[in-house]
Amino acid sequence: MPTKLAVGVLWLLAACTGRDPKFQQYYVQGEKLYQQHCSNCHQKKGEGLGRLYPPLAQSDYMQQNFDQVICLMRYGIQGPLTVNGITYNQAMPGVPQLTELELAELATYIYNTGEHARGRVTLEEVARSLKACP
Ligand code: HEC
Repeated sequence: MPTKLAVGVLWLLAACTGRDPKFQQYYVQGEKLYQQHCSNCHQKKGEGLGRLYPPLAQSDYMQQNFDQVICLMRYGIQGPLTVNGITYNQAMPGVPQLTELELAELATYIYNTGEHARGRVTLEEVARSLKACP
């Protein structure tokens, strides 16, 4: 009986934490990187700033342009860009020193904050997106 109980407890623990053990780690690291590199413009909670800096917490652009989002974090972006029906047109500088792991962590953070619930963004997804960068 005690063994059965122990097995039951272990199973429960695995069921709770085992889905994607790396999610939490990526999210926490991603939040730190976000506060360091992005929050000055996009604000603490990704709410954006008027017509200058588009929001991330709610963004149809992010939902429709996953590859471009990975690329713009590293290489920046310029030219008109529409988010939730509002057109922005300011240059965003990239952060070229971001590694693929850091890009995955950042993407995991922004894609699971606000209205987004994509789950962890993996290194494989980041590598694939980077190949498509302009
Ligand atoms: C100097 C201010 C600035 C910084 C720092 C900055 N951005 Fe941006 N970001 C912008 C601007 C301005 C645009 C719109 C670009 C355009 O008009 O072409 C933008 C666009 C975006 C978009 C696409 C539009 C949207 O809202 O969905 C995403 C996603 C994004 N930024 C994420 C980030 C992330 C993640 C970081 C940190 C690695 C970051 N940005 C750092 C200013 C900034």
